[in-house]
Amino acid sequence: MLSERVKRIAPSATFAVKAKAQALRAQGHDVLSFGLGQPDFDTPDLVKDAAKKALDDGFTKYTAAAGIPELKEAIAAKLKRDNSIDCEASNIVVSNGAKHSLHNIFQAMINPGDEVILLSPYWVSYIEQVRLSEGKAVLVDCDKEFQPIADSIKEAITDKTKMIVVNSPNNPTGAVFGKQKLQEIADIALENDLFIISDECYEHFVYEGAKHYSIASFSEELAAKTLTVNALSKTYAMTGWRVGYVCAPKEAAKAMGSLQGQTTSNVNSIAQKAAVAALNGPLDAVKEMAATFDERRKYAVEEFNKIPGIECNEPLGAFYLFPYVDGCFKGGVGNSAEFCDFLLEKAHVGLVPGSAFGLDSCVRFSCASSLDSIKEGISRIAKALS
Ligand SMILES: Cc1ncc(COP(=O)(O)O)c(C=O)c1O
Repeated sequence: MLSERVKRIAPSATFAVKAKAQALRAQGHDVLSFGLGQPDFDTPDLVKDAAKKALDDGFTKYTAAAGIPELKEAIAAKLKRDNSIDCEASNIVVSNGAKHSLHNIFQAMINPGDEVILLSPYWVSYIEQVRLSEGKAVLVDCDKEFQPIADSIKEAITDKTKMIVVNSPNNPTGAVFGKQKLQEIADIALENDLFIISDECYEHFVYEGAKHYSIASFSEELAAKTLTVNALSKTYAMTGWRVGYVCAPKEAAKAMGSLQGQTTSNVNSIAQKAAVAALNGPLDAVKEMAATFDERRKYAVEEFNKIPGIECNEPLGAFYLFPYVDGCFKGGVGNSAEFCDFLLEKAHVGLVPGSAFGLDSCVRFSCASSLDSIKEGISRIAKALS
């Protein structure tokens, strides 16, 4: 019944964790889930108010497929203000979250057999979306601290390589790639005439003085080869609103606008108006969220590193920890999926196996839960492993 294309897609590992946790909860267990990647905060009031106004104003009809001009202008202004990226409204396509922006890019730019370099560990959907576009995902391992290795990227390039996906701050590792690392990747891309996808969804979540850099701001030459992807999802705690965007070279933006016009059409009109208010508004709520994530992150790293067999790098960005847990593999627990199953059953704590992100020796722990529940969760993990 099903197409070969759709049969290639693996189900989302993070949603699988959620489902297992829900099944245990339904049996009456108190399950703490650290699986899902969404801020546990409410959308700021100013954004909600703009949505209410849009509704009251009757802003409920189709809009231009690639986004209302007001929103594209707000995005272009934001990219200039926060990212030093020079662009115009015609470079922007607004989509249903960054996930949809990424899908549009692969569909619009990848031909069967084209190779896309993913730095591993990688965010789960890249690999599936590349497969869906009939491209080939080529995985290049990062180092033990989850930083990219320029020589390994160079070695992976063939005459079929079309693009490199860069995600900093990173999901799942929380690593932030410094300017030097990004420049090395940028140089490789220019030397080999490759495009770069720069997924910057976690740009505002950086800690300990770490800085976020946008590759497209490095030079005009790089802006012409870079597709900068971002969303309001994490920054403004708006995961359910579904607003993301890409800033792309005009030819690609035009193609993605047409593609979207024949598939989903515009993002929800009310959410677009809310997004304008968010982007034109202050970053106070984001700063508060980042400070809260920072406190949880510090606590969690310290506590994980006290558990024998676990080694946790300090993430300088996003809101995830990606500890090495292979020191705990023994008995019936031989990989990250079994480790997560063990903890879910024994400690009623939900984590995501590192295998879903390309590194089986790790698990992903999301700090998007209260400090109290993080304390309780890690203490349960320590007890279950003792
Ligand atoms: C690195 C990365 N890119 C893109 C997305 C997708 O974001 P959105 O919810 O805006 O589709 C996520 C969500 O988890 C992510 O972690």
